Amino acid sequence: MSSKKSKKTTKFTDEHAAVLQATHKPSTAFSKNARIGSMAAYEKLYRESIAKPEVFWAREARELVWRKPFSKTLKWKAPDAQWFIGGKLNVAENCVDRHAAGTRKNKAAIIWEGEPGDKRVITYAQLHREVCKFSNVLLARGVKAKARVLIYMPMIPEAAIAMLACARIGAVHNVVFGGFASEAILDRLEDSGATAIITADGGWRRGKVIALKPAVDEALKKYHKIKHVFVVKRTENDISMQPGRDLWWQDEMETASAKHEAEGFDSEHPLFILYTSGSTGKPKGILHTSGGYLTGTYSTCKYIFDMRDEDIYWCTADVGWITGHSYIVYGPLANGVTQLMYEGAPNEPDFGRFWKMIEEHGVTIFYTAPTAIRAFIKAGDQFPEKHDLTSLRLLGSVGEPINPEAWNWYYEKIGGSRCPIVDTWWQTETGAILISPLPGATPCIPGTATRPFFGIDAAILDEYGNECPPNVDGRLVIRKPWPSMTRTIYGDKARFHKTYFSDYPGIYLAGDGARRDKKGNFWIIGRLDDVLNVSGHRLGTAEIESALVSHPSVAEAAVVARPHDLKGQAIAAFVTLKLGYESSEDLGKELRDHVGHVIGAIAKPEEIHFTPVLPKTRSGKIIRRLLKELVTTGTISGNVTTLEDVGVIELLQKLLKK
Ligand code: PRX
Repeated sequence: MSSKKSKKTTKFTDEHAAVLQATHKPSTAFSKNARIGSMAAYEKLYRESIAKPEVFWAREARELVWRKPFSKTLKWKAPDAQWFIGGKLNVAENCVDRHAAGTRKNKAAIIWEGEPGDKRVITYAQLHREVCKFSNVLLARGVKAKARVLIYMPMIPEAAIAMLACARIGAVHNVVFGGFASEAILDRLEDSGATAIITADGGWRRGKVIALKPAVDEALKKYHKIKHVFVVKRTENDISMQPGRDLWWQDEMETASAKHEAEGFDSEHPLFILYTSGSTGKPKGILHTSGGYLTGTYSTCKYIFDMRDEDIYWCTADVGWITGHSYIVYGPLANGVTQLMYEGAPNEPDFGRFWKMIEEHGVTIFYTAPTAIRAFIKAGDQFPEKHDLTSLRLLGSVGEPINPEAWNWYYEKIGGSRCPIVDTWWQTETGAILISPLPGATPCIPGTATRPFFGIDAAILDEYGNECPPNVDGRLVIRKPWPSMTRTIYGDKARFHKTYFSDYPGIYLAGDGARRDKKGNFWIIGRLDDVLNVSGHRLGTAEIESALVSHPSVAEAAVVARPHDLKGQAIAAFVTLKLGYESSEDLGKELRDHVGHVIGAIAKPEEIHFTPVLPKTRSGKIIRRLLKELVTTGTISGNVTTLEDVGVIELLQKLLKK
């Protein structure tokens, strides 16, 4: 860092913003009942929380149940944070037992709907029984505190039960999204050193059974440390079970005791590892711990979703992503709310499915992703118009910037121009929402996640570490530690330090570009690193490139994103073949399928361009920036002086025109 003057990049004026985006203030009725009911109240508490973050966070943490109270709130020596030192708690007890033992005993914790239409309601008392039973199953099968357990499940209540049972006994879960393929499972097993797996025969998606167990079997051909695979019978498709190793969940649960005394674990006890894409081919095992993570998810649910006992809350994410961890399992359950959980696709049997479910279950808070909203817009207004959506009082958005068109449609067609929209910015690494409107206080403007949450010291810095003036693009950073921040990349402290805390020593670098307007609203622009955001799913260019290069025909590959109406970004791959291979449509299809096999269907490139050469610097680095511009605009306008061979641009332009 130096104190050189900040370099101005894109200029985006407040006047410009005002024309594009109207401001929507919360209604008086909403504000009156909200926990934070005015900007003045927000500003006051925000100022206090930034002056003394430890006071704010300690107060929030004390709303949880501690087996042993903490003696010190924070120990911070960048990049190492410890929160609520000396405290002991049980995360599952906080999410389940305390409600099951009180007045919420017979309240629905989870109202679940399977894709074929089957339904289950699980009360807090029943959830408690199930979690205790599965904890006993795990213990009886030798799973101990700190053991890593891989969870590969469809969206069924057992996914949440499995996570909570791991938390209850102090085992560290690693949930792998059900859309990932066997090699992704294998990578995660090897990196985490897991000894148990919890999976299912399959799940329902778009009217079909998607088998899960075969991918686990495939991974286990090469990984031999797994002692047991617990398999939930969901779809009854034929699967193979290896005697001794593989156990049916239902059989194990039949004889398990429902009595289990929760033990207090250290506040910094590891809770879970969740792998996410970074700028190398190897996903990062983001580690979250107990007391801080639970405090962050609990507190943000309370203030940002303003959760109440009367609410029916629905987050449409999958438990395989951080949104599912923080805003299906831990945050909502810590608040004792009733939530809806859904197994399948939004368009099964048609694009009215979500709206039908909102009407039938009386959903009051709905949290989804911009990519889903764009798909609904495309499908047509006739689907939501068929349903009574007046139960809704609050809407949320997560995963990528929400374009004003999608925001306005969501606001009018789904929220009836009545519901505030909380556009929540956060990351796998941050554990909980860091920037978002507070629904009873913050005026919403389409496209901005608005203001930082309490205790979050967010800023925009230029490359030299100076704070950017209003409306100038820079890098989004968080200057003070917060409880739910990731503690490390599992097994790779050096990478953790380098990725997040080395550009600006002691300051968390989010990896997103952003600007702040004069009113203090944060506008998130998108990733600055080689990370793509396809339908709200985070994928690394390097991961997809290494999957392509693992095909025998591929010599070299470069992957970039181009804007896509529905997905936000689509994947474009440039591939150079090895001598002796010829490009063809069939080979293109084979390569797409190959990526699907190595990573999962979500990573399949939308387009594959075969090229004899790739644009490179003299030192041999592929210049993805040029490829990105080419697939987006068809031309190159920027500086090409670093190119080793300028002729390559003309060649690529010709190729793309074909
Ligand atoms: O680029 C930002 C984008 O998603 C990234 C984090 O992805 P992941 O760790 O998979 O977590 C997604 C769910 C929290 C961020 O670096 N992102 C997330 N929310 C928003 C967003 N971009 C703009 N606005 C948002 N509300």
